[in-house]
Amino acid sequence: MTKFHEFPQDFKGKVAIITGASSGIGQAVAEAIANYGAHTIFISRSGAEAITSQLNAAGKSALSLPCDVTDETQVKQAIASVFERYGRIDILINNAAINQIAKIEDISLEDWNRVIATNLTSLFLCCKYAVPIMKQQRSGNIINVSSIAGHFRSKISGIHYVASKAGVVGFTRQLAYELAPFQINVNAICPSQTYTPMLAATLPPEAEQKLIDSIPLGRIASMEEQVNVILFLASHLSSYMTGAIVDVNGGQF
Ligand SMILES: NC(=O)c1ccc[n+]([C@@H]2O[C@H](COP(=O)([O-])OP(=O)(O)OC[C@H]3O[C@@H](n4cnc5c(N)ncnc54)[C@H](O)[C@@H]3O)[C@@H](O)[C@H]2O)c1
Repeated sequence: MTKFHEFPQDFKGKVAIITGASSGIGQAVAEAIANYGAHTIFISRSGAEAITSQLNAAGKSALSLPCDVTDETQVKQAIASVFERYGRIDILINNAAINQIAKIEDISLEDWNRVIATNLTSLFLCCKYAVPIMKQQRSGNIINVSSIAGHFRSKISGIHYVASKAGVVGFTRQLAYELAPFQINVNAICPSQTYTPMLAATLPPEAEQKLIDSIPLGRIASMEEQVNVILFLASHLSSYMTGAIVDVNGGQF
């Protein structure tokens, strides 16, 4: 299991949902939050049994909930089952996404719709069903994972990915405004290239050094460097932040 630094936090007893938690940044942040004492729900298409079993064996509270975040019926059921089991939702981290490298003329309408559905419509669905619960509590914390691609542009990804991540930025600012009267904070992070399975699948090895040379900090991010900022946004340390779009990109603009 991934090791994490000490982090000032107040996650004990909170109920946290993380989408795309069977891999990469999503799994790492879910592991961290579970380790800090939250009831942590790992949402992914195929389930995350291996990691949740390990966490539960170590005395943590982790639940693997298989769910395709593009499917409204599945999302509605997943959120309802979390509410039924734990009676509240404190933290929702919308992290699941897919990527594809292709030029516009090679992207089919099916590809476009799949990427938009996974990377943007899924946020609408998860928030649509989690927000009424948070409104009733008059508290909640939503963190959306966008990308440097959505805040600026991409050196790697297709235009559908970039458009979906730009959509996440607008979605975050508007939802933050809509939910502020209910003391529900909504923020986004915009990671740049980070060593995860997604990057391994999209960055050709011969392009890695050129990319590193173009990053002011001179290196590709580790997963922990993204996780730490998500943890900050999910904790009380960021309680006066809402509608913020936080760049975690090694100084790239
Ligand atoms: N790795 C990078 O370089 C990088 C850079 C910028 C932004 N990001 C963003 O960070 C987030 C995490 O990326 P990662 O690199 O860890 O990716 P990853 O591919 O390792 O993990 C993505 C997760 O999303 C899940 N997922 C995909 N479609 C789903 C669906 N329909 N329903 C449920 N789960 C689904 C996958 O199963 C997987 O668990 C994504 O939003 C990504 O766009 C990553």
